[in-house]
Amino acid sequence: MSRNISGLNGIEGKTPFLIGVSGGTASGKTTVCNRIMEKLGQVDMDQTERKVVCISQDSFYRNLTPAEIILAEKGQFNFDHPEAFDNDLIFSTLSDILAGIKCQVPTYDYCTHSRVQGQSITIYPADVVLFEGILVFYVAKIRDLFHMKLFVDTDSDTRLARRVARDIKERGRDLNSVLNQYMNNVKPAFEEFGLPTKKFADIIIPRGADNSVAIDLIVHHIWDILHLKKMNGAEMTPASIQHPYLH
Ligand code: ADP
Ligand code: C5P
Repeated sequence: MSRNISGLNGIEGKTPFLIGVSGGTASGKTTVCNRIMEKLGQVDMDQTERKVVCISQDSFYRNLTPAEIILAEKGQFNFDHPEAFDNDLIFSTLSDILAGIKCQVPTYDYCTHSRVQGQSITIYPADVVLFEGILVFYVAKIRDLFHMKLFVDTDSDTRLARRVARDIKERGRDLNSVLNQYMNNVKPAFEEFGLPTKKFADIIIPRGADNSVAIDLIVHHIWDILHLKKMNGAEMTPASIQHPYLH
């Protein structure tokens, strides 16, 4: 299903512009999303006021069985396989978001490999929603929901170096487990499931967040689309979103 600008004027004009951001592990997906939000002037404000929000596919890792938890603790569970995610929950959440409905997204803990019980993030209706993750273009019915698809293309040595540093510092891992997991699951799964989805991207961003020219062009395009919606009289207004070249 393709979408055009008139298709954006959905239910009560509140359909957000939904952007999928994919790429290998540690390619810079989150950093690129943060840059886009910064350039749209959306960082230093309250969650309820934001017109641009970013959601991670990692929030939708499915609950593991006790046997799978034991594997995960040994670094042997394949978190890079499409079936590691709760794809039904991803689809229903993104569908709610497109319908302008406030929704809850689980909070995920990489140290325990599970959702944090009783804790979730409220996503309020927004003008632009970024959904980033290693396999956001894998399932066709999810892929078809995006108005724009970006693929962050960063050299695999750079990604591995960043992943080692990040997983040890932020995700409670040691060097051996990061390298074993990378060689046994992360790399083969990326080659089998993630990399082939690059062909679905509208825009490929070489070098990730270092590519400020690509990010500026994307931000400009987002701003143009929101401005056009305003001109067309849709309810949604980009009034609180700053033009990338005017600040
Ligand atoms: P992803 O969301 O694709 O896993 P992140 O954006 O979280 O990737 O980046 C992974 C790690 O690499 C983080 O520690 C981040 O700070 C770092 N990083 C990302 N982009 C760059 C960059 N252009 N230069 C240096 N470090 C970067
Ligand atoms: O941020 P990034 O895109 O790298 O997050 C996805 C990665 O997180 C996957 O490559 C997966 O191996 C890893 N992961 C993990 N442990 C978990 C859940 C995900 O190492 N419990």
